[in-house]
Amino acid sequence: MDALRDTDIDPKPLQGKRVAIIGYGNQGRAQALNLNDSGIDVVVGLRDRSPSIAGARGDGIATAPLLEAAASADLVMLLAPDEALAAIYRLIERHIREGAALGFSHGLAIRFGFIVPRPDLDVIMVAPKGPGTALRSLYLEGKGMIGLYAVEQDASGHAEALALAYGRALGCGRAGLLPSTFAEECEADLFNEQAVVWGAVPEILIAGFDTLVEAGVSEEVAYMECVGELKLIAELIEARGIAGMREAISNTAELGAVLGGPRIVDDGVRSRMRSILEDIRAGGFSNTLRDEEASAYPRLRAARDRASGLRVEQARRKLID
Ligand SMILES: NC(=O)c1ccc[n+]([C@@H]2O[C@H](COP(=O)([O-])OP(=O)(O)OC[C@H]3O[C@@H](n4cnc5c(N)ncnc54)[C@H](OP(=O)(O)O)[C@@H]3O)[C@@H](O)[C@H]2O)c1
Repeated sequence: MDALRDTDIDPKPLQGKRVAIIGYGNQGRAQALNLNDSGIDVVVGLRDRSPSIAGARGDGIATAPLLEAAASADLVMLLAPDEALAAIYRLIERHIREGAALGFSHGLAIRFGFIVPRPDLDVIMVAPKGPGTALRSLYLEGKGMIGLYAVEQDASGHAEALALAYGRALGCGRAGLLPSTFAEECEADLFNEQAVVWGAVPEILIAGFDTLVEAGVSEEVAYMECVGELKLIAELIEARGIAGMREAISNTAELGAVLGGPRIVDDGVRSRMRSILEDIRAGGFSNTLRDEEASAYPRLRAARDRASGLRVEQARRKLID
């Protein structure tokens, strides 16, 4: 599968068009600023008295009430939290222009049927593969963030060209835009968040730190070993791949890694990874996310309280502050 780059992508489908970005958070801010700098007419749609209005205006970006922004646009990008998107779409649905396009940066609301878009709309996704802060800083450095693009509904016959032009205006075409689907992007993204980088890696860092501290190692040394080196390995893997990373470490470290790693990530771990993916595909996680929002986020609030009190966090504060 080839990634498309700026030179492969026609910017015209977005030229002279107005984009309404709904939400000015992590992705909304970065995408609005990148589009604006790429010469696209952008308005940010926000609810009344939204604390985000001042931030957008301070950045020199036009804002409008939700319904007004949606009604004025050729492309309406829904960039508020996934669990809020269905309620937002219900509010704006009949205000979106006939034949306009609806855009997402994550497939969840469509994959799990939280939103069933009007049939006259193009439905596209451009999902930058990383946080909004990095999407913006890479753009400013003249670089870009790799992204996925997809078309769920092609009412106009030009939805793919629009998605690509949008990705190009975000700067993603500088790094590469890969074709995907809403289902594939959503399932793979949720899987990584839960079972790999964002879910499993922090837990293994905490477990390693706790094991050393319980065995009498000082908190500072345990932190440096188990948490402090993460950035180094991430940079090596990014620059050289996993095999290249192993060439860059000592024989001692390499032998320890190839003997110890599979004792931790054994068949039981792989089997639980498959269970997580099954639960994601069956809609278990997306239903939990919806319930979480409906009951004012009890799990997230409890987890945030727990995380700030962890011993590993205290060790970090001692070392860094
Ligand atoms: N986080 C990332 O960097 C990242 C990376 C890739 C893809 N994505 C995807 O990008 C989308 C946006 O995620 P995000 O993390 O950028 O969201 P976010 O930062 O949590 O979005 C916050 C913004 O959404 C607005 N908002 C929240 N609830 C709203 C509601 N009910 N009605 C109207 N506006 C509302 C907030 O306005 P107020 O100020 O009024 O509260 C705020 O401006 C999601 O689909 C996500 O999966 C995110």
